[in-house]
Amino acid sequence: MEDLIQALNPYHEVLLLATVAGLVSHQGFRKYEPTISGFLGVFFSLQAITFLQNFVRNGSSPESLVSSTLLAAMFGVVYLGVLGISIVLYRVYFHPLRHYPGPKLSRISKIEWAYRTRGGHFYLHIDRLHKKYGDIVRVGPNDLAFCGVKDVPLINGPMSKMAKGAHMDGSPWAKARSVTFVKERAEHRARRRIWDQGFTTSALQQYEPRITSLLEAVSDQFTARIGQEINFADWTSFFSFDAMGDLGFGNDFGMVKNGIPHMYKEYIHKALKMRSVWINLPWCKYIVNYLPMDDEMKQQTKKFVDFGNERFNARKAKGTTRADIFSHLLAQDEESGGRMPEAELREDAKAIIIAGSDTTSFALVAALFLLVQNEQAYEKLEKEIDALNAKGPMRGTTLGPEQAPYLNGVINEALRLFPPAPEPTQRTYGESPYILNGNLIPPHTNCYVSSYTLARDERNFSQAEKFIPERWIESSRPEKFNHNRKAFVPFGSGLFNCAGRTLAQLELRQFIGTLLHRFHFSAGRNFNPQDFLSALRSNGTMESGSLPLLLTARNVKLEAA
Ligand code: HEM
Repeated sequence: MEDLIQALNPYHEVLLLATVAGLVSHQGFRKYEPTISGFLGVFFSLQAITFLQNFVRNGSSPESLVSSTLLAAMFGVVYLGVLGISIVLYRVYFHPLRHYPGPKLSRISKIEWAYRTRGGHFYLHIDRLHKKYGDIVRVGPNDLAFCGVKDVPLINGPMSKMAKGAHMDGSPWAKARSVTFVKERAEHRARRRIWDQGFTTSALQQYEPRITSLLEAVSDQFTARIGQEINFADWTSFFSFDAMGDLGFGNDFGMVKNGIPHMYKEYIHKALKMRSVWINLPWCKYIVNYLPMDDEMKQQTKKFVDFGNERFNARKAKGTTRADIFSHLLAQDEESGGRMPEAELREDAKAIIIAGSDTTSFALVAALFLLVQNEQAYEKLEKEIDALNAKGPMRGTTLGPEQAPYLNGVINEALRLFPPAPEPTQRTYGESPYILNGNLIPPHTNCYVSSYTLARDERNFSQAEKFIPERWIESSRPEKFNHNRKAFVPFGSGLFNCAGRTLAQLELRQFIGTLLHRFHFSAGRNFNPQDFLSALRSNGTMESGSLPLLLTARNVKLEAA
């Protein structure tokens, strides 16, 4: 071997060493995926060693400097080439997931995924892949998407033993994690115990008057616009951001009052879009800030942080006497006797607004989009809510499926057809392999479930593409109609499900129950279902374009029920 090495000229030697280094690095990176800075550290160190080795060997002459530089450059090119080819060959032909069907490019890289997510249509892409390849699809090098009814509960249902995956790594710059980014099951359970105190029936009853007063403000704004075409999506957004600002930060954003969006909302949308790129390519997240990107975004970041800190400090000073979600997070945890550290509290206050605003707003937009195109359903709904209003003022906490079956049917249909957080949820079993209904899931596989795909699958819901609120009312559901409640997961399911589900339902019921009693909405002149559908985008939560609706007053004769 020594003879062989001696017989090699420096170029052959570098070729051989770069090839070996490329292959060894690949094996190392399979076990410990490096960040971009870690990778560049390894790469430039190897190049530097190559340079020095040749420079020292050949003496410090100008010729030696040139040839050593050339050899180091050659090392780099060969190393990267071998590493790349080794990764591609392994992922396509030798990877334990190679037997699962899926598009060829997805086996190699998640770059396409990041591109599609940024565009906001990744959930549709996954849906198409399931239609083409079946119930289990390899959607990335280490990634499997599932839509089989038996598999889904074992991934993200109550029986699942999986944890959240790398998508929930959180921001690399945050000083602490909000509950959303706590991936470990035991720690998450402890954080959720505190959060859940903020969404009990008695907690919701305390928030209800705040929602009522905000709805009165929306009602006043609508009254001033009777006979006009309004962008309904603006108003649901103003309402939901103000509601979450009030319950999370102790003050609304003044959006309903002023009829214009607050910069906090604009910033959140941009930040979510950027995040949607790096969650799929975690190795590049540390350089995102240094990439040439939106200058405005960089300026807004500072304003956003200052505003958030200011609001947080003001709210914290008010203590636990105010009836809002923040009070529950601030209070002492009864079980452990501890309190949340300030850094975590700060992140959780932001999470309330991020998780609870666009989601609720979009659910209302989806409901109205469907209702204005389904006259009969709209009439039935009006009849039910008119009768309920005749009994007294609307209270969201008393509008469950028994009291308001059609209203709840409409809301469920909107959430089924247009889940406000349609991105597939990611779970992993970590280090250990896992047998899932007879299929081997190798260690570190990311498993995904898409609420959108499940809800539009005929095996779960007959006439799945149609808006049929009656399907949620047992006595009105047509016979032999597929109706699989387990496949209805707009709020997720299992340990990591939506913390704010009860509050979201309260808001949706009270908004529709109050405002559709006072006003009638119909398709405006600029309403175009196709335009609406093509403008939908999801970067974690769904965003719609405008929903132009004609607003008219209702002369409702209250019937005592
Ligand atoms: C229609 C409205 C809403 C929908 C459709 C929705 C949907 C979801 C979904 C799909 C998840 C992820 C679940 C998973 O990973 O399995 C989630 C998580 C979460 N949601 Fe909601 N959400 C809504 C409203 C709200 C509201 C009003 C709040 C109030 C603050 C909220 C707070 C949260 C939190 C804190 C999490 C993280 C939970 C955890 O990791 O333990 N959501 N939501």
